[in-house]
Amino acid sequence: MRLPIIAGNWKMNNSISESIKLIEEIKNHVLDKGVEAVVCAPYTSLNEVKKALEGTDIRLGAQNMHWEESGAYTGEISPAMLKEIGVDYCIVGHSERRQYFNESDDTVNRKVRTALKYGIKPILCVGETLEEREAGEEEKVVKKQVLKALEDVKKDDIADVVIAYEPIWAIGTGKTASSDDANNMCNFIRNIIGNKYDEAAKERIRIQYGGSVKPNTIKELMAKEDVDGALVGGASLIAEDFVSLINY
Ligand code: 13P
Repeated sequence: MRLPIIAGNWKMNNSISESIKLIEEIKNHVLDKGVEAVVCAPYTSLNEVKKALEGTDIRLGAQNMHWEESGAYTGEISPAMLKEIGVDYCIVGHSERRQYFNESDDTVNRKVRTALKYGIKPILCVGETLEEREAGEEEKVVKKQVLKALEDVKKDDIADVVIAYEPIWAIGTGKTASSDDANNMCNFIRNIIGNKYDEAAKERIRIQYGGSVKPNTIKELMAKEDVDGALVGGASLIAEDFVSLINY
């Protein structure tokens, strides 16, 4: 049995005080012990959010990290720094980072490996553009992203990796993939893991869907066999919506 995981990606939203307010609004309303809830806060809020989450089962995530422990990388944050705060998860390779900050499959791979080394669970994002989907290339694109990102990742570590399938055309657009399309791609990714590793890894890895997930779409999505969770942007900023997503 895979533990469902609902993660909120706040992106570049929420000051420290706004972050604490949001946590206070959601933390006593998480009902379902059978779902892992994660909030991925901006760097500046991580420390305070960690404190605000004390005594809850909600996990803390970052949205990005560098692959080195320290060094001359002005403006970057290292996995060791995140670990010191007590971060459990880190989003790696979000399409917005690939698109606006030139993240490549190679840097995504380095980050995935480093996160695992530091005991931070990577939420590895993959997904195709609208043009790629219209050209029927979505599986080819996603396969390449998954295999590159997991290069030299050991089988024993795969249970700590979460993959988020986020079709770019569905992010922040209100256009969501149908639950069948989401499930088909999650199944396709699961088979890639099965082929690369083994049956146990295939059954163990958790795969989320992300892209305009809202309270009215979560139930149908989570009923699908290969969808183990959701990575949520916009709706995770609204306490009531995020609570109902976690308690789907
Ligand atoms: P939205 O839920 O706002 O579409 O964002 C999805 C996303 O990018 C989560 O990482």
